[in-house]
Amino acid sequence: MTIVINMRDGVDGRKIGVAGRLILGGGLVAFPTETVYGLGADALNEEAVRRIFRAKGRPADNPLIVHIADFSDLKLLAREIPEEARLLARKFWPGPLTLVLPKSEKVPSVTTGGLDTVAVRMPAHEIALALIRASRPVAAPSANISGRPSPTLAKHVVDDFYGKIEAIIDGGETRVGVESTVLDLSSERPTLLRPGGLPLEEIERVIGPVEIHPAVRGKATDLARAPGMKYRHYSPNARVIVVEGPRERVRKKIRELVDEYRKGNHRVGVMATEEFEADEFFYLGQTVEEVARNLFKALRELDERGVDVIIAEGVEEKGLGLAVMNRLRKASGYHVIRA
Ligand code: TXA
Ligand code: MG
Repeated sequence: MTIVINMRDGVDGRKIGVAGRLILGGGLVAFPTETVYGLGADALNEEAVRRIFRAKGRPADNPLIVHIADFSDLKLLAREIPEEARLLARKFWPGPLTLVLPKSEKVPSVTTGGLDTVAVRMPAHEIALALIRASRPVAAPSANISGRPSPTLAKHVVDDFYGKIEAIIDGGETRVGVESTVLDLSSERPTLLRPGGLPLEEIERVIGPVEIHPAVRGKATDLARAPGMKYRHYSPNARVIVVEGPRERVRKKIRELVDEYRKGNHRVGVMATEEFEADEFFYLGQTVEEVARNLFKALRELDERGVDVIIAEGVEEKGLGLAVMNRLRKASGYHVIRA
């Protein structure tokens, strides 16, 4: 039995109370954040956290992000808070930035996938913050079955988890659309482990140059520190092909690919920033912010419309574009064509 709690008109204190008690009782509650929906449980309750892994079908060595509502909670979770963490938190929390820090003994190792570090973030969403305040620090991966595109609508969570978790809070469509930026501050040099909703350029403006983990660009080395990067991700059922390069050539290439696949009797979907002739089409918007917001919805929706192949237009790797391209390339299993 799953209750769907409608909070599209904003925080409702009584309903938050119900959801908070479900979390405190060891239950699983999906909730909106500014990035994507999360599948939440009490981060300090091992049994509840185990249920997250089981519900998602997530490998036990892929750690979860712990969500907090007040900076003071960080002291409970992290053994050490370096100066960079304070600076970044002051500037970007609440917001789409996750910091990886040495973990305290309070955090069960189930939550951190056996690692000695913990990932923490303060989400910029009033429903998420109210839920955390009504319960405890909340461990929450994206609320999708492992390997599927992340959810940006309550409907996506219903599709993946209805009947398997206690509650889903519907707070409407998420604003950012790609998950948080994950920054490792637990070793000598700040390292980007996952590009996301907070552009790298903004982080570097505050703490200077940041190293980029090779897994971000799809290279499979030293995955112990970035365990999330080794698993299949964001994949719809359809095959995804990403076309990258200068705009005019990308357009031409997409038209050629559509023709080619249709001749081979495939149903072809295109997701792009301008209209294309295809069996199905999803308009991603003009700005990179719009593309980020629509990305996962486009993958899920084209799948639902029954296409065999999705051809996706690549964007420039600036600002949110770095996160968009990271997700698209993964969704395609690195089937990337340079036009
Ligand atoms: O925006 C988001 O971050 C969303 C919302 C719900 O907050 N959450 C999310 O969680 O995307 P998830 O579990 O889908 O992705 C968490 C990522 C994974 O790549 C995981 O490997 C990484 O963060 N991560 C978590 N703890 C880590 C740690 N201690 N060290 C390194 N990477 C860690
Ligand atoms: Mg995820």
